[in-house]
Parts: sequence; C-alpha cells; structure tokens
Amino acid sequence: MRVDYELLVKNLSALTEGETDPIALMATVVCEVHHSDDRFDWTGFYRVTEPGVLKIGPYQGGHGCLVIPFSRGVCGAAARTGQIQLVPDVDVYDGHIACASSTKSELVIPVCDSQGKTVAVFDIDSDRPDAFTQADADALAKILGVIFSG
Ligand code: SME
Repeated sequence: MRVDYELLVKNLSALTEGETDPIALMATVVCEVHHSDDRFDWTGFYRVTEPGVLKIGPYQGGHGCLVIPFSRGVCGAAARTGQIQLVPDVDVYDGHIACASSTKSELVIPVCDSQGKTVAVFDIDSDRPDAFTQADADALAKILGVIFSG
C-alpha cells in the first residue's frame, strides 16, 4: 500500500478541524500517516520540551528512545538546523540513533508553530533501504505546516 497524499490531506483536515491541542493533533497525524503506507515502520513526534532537548511524543511502532538532545541523531539535526533530514541509509549517517536495528532509512521533518519556532520534529523510520523520496518530504512538510503553523 502506497500513501495517497490527497486522501491523507482530506482525512486529516476532517479529523483535526477545530482542534488546537498539539498532543491531540500529533496523535491523530501519527495514526493516519503510519497506517497510510507499508514503508512506514515507526512514525512519531519528538517535542521540544526545553531548549536543546527533544522528548518523545505520540508515536506508533516499537518503543522509541525518550530523550534526544539537539546535538544527537537525525532528529537532533532536524531540530538544530530546521532542515528536513532525508536519510537513505542510516548505517552511513554519522550519529544515527538506532531505536530499532531493523531501521534502514529515515525521514525527519521539523515542525514549526505559527511564529516559525521549531516545536517538534516528525520522524518516520522504514525497514526498507532508501524508502523515502523528496516528494514524501514535501507532501508531509506541507501537511505539518497546515496543521501546526496554519
Ligand atoms: N533514529 C532517530 C532516533 C529516533 S528513533 O528512530 C525512533 C535519530 O537518529 O534521531
């Protein structure tokens, strides 16, 4: 099954309409995205809970590590730089944090609030190598932008 981004946008906008609580929004996004595509083996948010620190938020999949400093991992790089991290091969990414040894590739997208401040990162892991495309990154960044910075 491959994600239909048009349908995902429609479903998410119906499900999240009128909701402003960030955890309720994150839980709903994670659920919808995770079940939309067989490539997505772990899907979740890490939230900025204090300067330079990410803490686990809503997720689906096996357990994720609880705390990630901005200085570490793919998630830390996304939070630190504000740039999308598309990692085709986690084994050659310096500093990748392996929450599951089955993970082969990863996509992390910074999440900003309406002031443009990074409040979280959205992380998808795949057990398939080179699972993610720039089109995935663009579509998901657009969805996150509408829901969290709109
Ligand atoms: N791989 C991430 C850590 C989070 S887990 O994948 C759930 C990283 O390197 O930041």
